[in-house]
Amino acid sequence: MKFLVTGGAGFIGSAFVRLLLGAGPAMAGPSRSPRPSVVINLDKLTYAGNLENLAPVAEDARYRFVHGDICDARLVNELVSDARPDVIVNFAAESHVDRSILSPAPVFETNLRGTFTLLEAARLHGVPRFLQVSTDEVYGSIETSYEADETCPLRPSSPYSASKAGSDLLALSYFVTYRLPVMVTRASNNYGPYQFPEKLIPLMISNAIEDQPLPIYGDGMQVRDWLYVDDHCRAILAVIEAGREGEIYNIGGSCALPNIDVVKRILDAVGKPHSLMQTVKDRPGHDRRYALSSEKLMRETGWKSEKPFAEGLPATIEWYRGNAAWIAHVKSGEYQTYYQRNYANRAV
Ligand code: NAD
Ligand code: TYD
Repeated sequence: MKFLVTGGAGFIGSAFVRLLLGAGPAMAGPSRSPRPSVVINLDKLTYAGNLENLAPVAEDARYRFVHGDICDARLVNELVSDARPDVIVNFAAESHVDRSILSPAPVFETNLRGTFTLLEAARLHGVPRFLQVSTDEVYGSIETSYEADETCPLRPSSPYSASKAGSDLLALSYFVTYRLPVMVTRASNNYGPYQFPEKLIPLMISNAIEDQPLPIYGDGMQVRDWLYVDDHCRAILAVIEAGREGEIYNIGGSCALPNIDVVKRILDAVGKPHSLMQTVKDRPGHDRRYALSSEKLMRETGWKSEKPFAEGLPATIEWYRGNAAWIAHVKSGEYQTYYQRNYANRAV
């Protein structure tokens, strides 16, 4: 099978590429090995893209990196026409809510125009599978004691989640109108090695290691459902192999926790005092709770999450402790400017 992966230099995309090429964790459970003949990674290398994440596969003869933008229609068309992939997996995105609030324009460009550009190329060249990687955030904040299934209405709250909802709908319309074999997956919050330290878990781990304050938005009682990144990647493979065209599949971690609990666990594991937590001004439009039912995915593909949070969090912390050079590199330069912009005026 030939894979065209977009955004493969980011956090989840790189885990997917490593998994495809056998440089990830061994695959257990019902997920079958895909045995790819070719894996092409199209990535623009934005602040979030990092080729160090792909060092374990860089020398693999089946792997090819293409530096480019998914909004570049000529490049995308040529690539799809030349490579004739069996499947396109679209991870490429501006993926962070806070950045989408500070600067919405790149979010709409990449997440909407980029997805449109890929869909058009797939349609033109008759690509047999298109998997759009999406998020549970499209459902918006979910009331207590309810888990969103795939029929739940879309109520995105942020520019990020609105752009993802839009690209989901666009992708699904290509199935209805053109019979392009599209599938959409909506995963909950991922965590694991190689995650850029703008998201909650890696930011808190790296600040704790460096004895920096840990910024808690509002009361810290917002709930997120944590999914280990390799469980997410196995679920995507399961959907490619056993999912139905034109369908949406939720991918949850069955681990819903308030942020404050997650942060306290991190401080305890790193051996730092809870006094490092610092309440800061809340995020505008902050979703209170995400909760997801993955029943359809489990029933139709046999997937289940394998890494419980009690194992995944310490393993992730260990990875960050052992990769100080990686952290130092991604936190240099642009990160400092972003950090100032997002956190400087948040004192309460
Ligand atoms: P990330 O920010 O770590 O990586 C995004 C990658 O896309 C980077 O390598 C970046 O260089 C690349 N990219 C950005 N714009 C591009 C463009 N115009 N053309 C080509 N490449 C471009 O993101 P992530 O956390 O790995 O998320 C991957 C996907 O999974 C996204 O679509 C995101 O919406 C979705 N998702 C993420 C989470 C999560 O918790 N991180 C949860 C559910 C779904
Ligand atoms: P994040 O990792 O940005 O993911 P998302 O907003 O897409 O769910 O944030 C996870 C939760 O953590 C969210 O409720 C916001 C909160 N949060 C903080 O309290 N402080 C922070 O510095 C960050 C980045 C997030």
